[in-house]
Amino acid sequence: MEEKRYLTFALTKGRLANKTLELLEQIGITCEEMKDKNSRKLIFVNEELKLKFFLAKGPDVPTYVEYGVADIGVTGKDELLEENRRVYEVLDLGFGKCRMCVCGPAKAKELLKHHEMIRVASKYPVIAKDYFYNKKHQTVDIIKLNGSVELGPIVGLADVIVDIVETGSTLRENGLEVLEEICPLSARMIVNQVSMQMETDRIKEIILKLRRQLDGDAK
Ligand code: PRP
Repeated sequence: MEEKRYLTFALTKGRLANKTLELLEQIGITCEEMKDKNSRKLIFVNEELKLKFFLAKGPDVPTYVEYGVADIGVTGKDELLEENRRVYEVLDLGFGKCRMCVCGPAKAKELLKHHEMIRVASKYPVIAKDYFYNKKHQTVDIIKLNGSVELGPIVGLADVIVDIVETGSTLRENGLEVLEEICPLSARMIVNQVSMQMETDRIKEIILKLRRQLDGDAK
């Protein structure tokens, strides 16, 4: 019999990877090596199941999957929308739930209503541009930031921000609020397009088991 090749997973380092591993464990996919929380290793192997796992930054997961160095990936919907890679999005994993929103001080509401030229700071310039240009038909100046985006309106760099809101406490503690909601977000499973053809059975079995597990959890 032909030796099975490794199926490789690219997971988003941190909380999403931990949640993903918990879920995979429920369908019998484990990786003992990854349980050592103090480890700085980035690649892990389960020889028995012929699986490999690696840990990457969220925005890089779709890149690894598009180029086929990972067959399967797990990352946030925000990263998928921002990176716009050619991959199959196959499953909403239901965790990592949050919202992509336009946020700012209450007084900025008016600027959004009247389609004024405003400055928008975001870690997600593609999502921000798509929302303002294609959905709202409002011309804006988008300023890319790499984190602590809430600073934008506070220090006067931008009128509003486009950012992730989970609990809302970062906004509250900085005197900002949600002005408009763009879309809901959660962790998604993605698959390389060629892998889906070449390893259909193995990949579909994983998707099916996960879907059943998630449906069961929801009941
Ligand atoms: C994210 C996001 C918000 C915050 C939202 O930032 O950009 O700042 O979390 O969460 P909350 O609604 O529960 O307060 P992250 O912690 O990833 O850090 P960053 O600002 O450096 O990107």
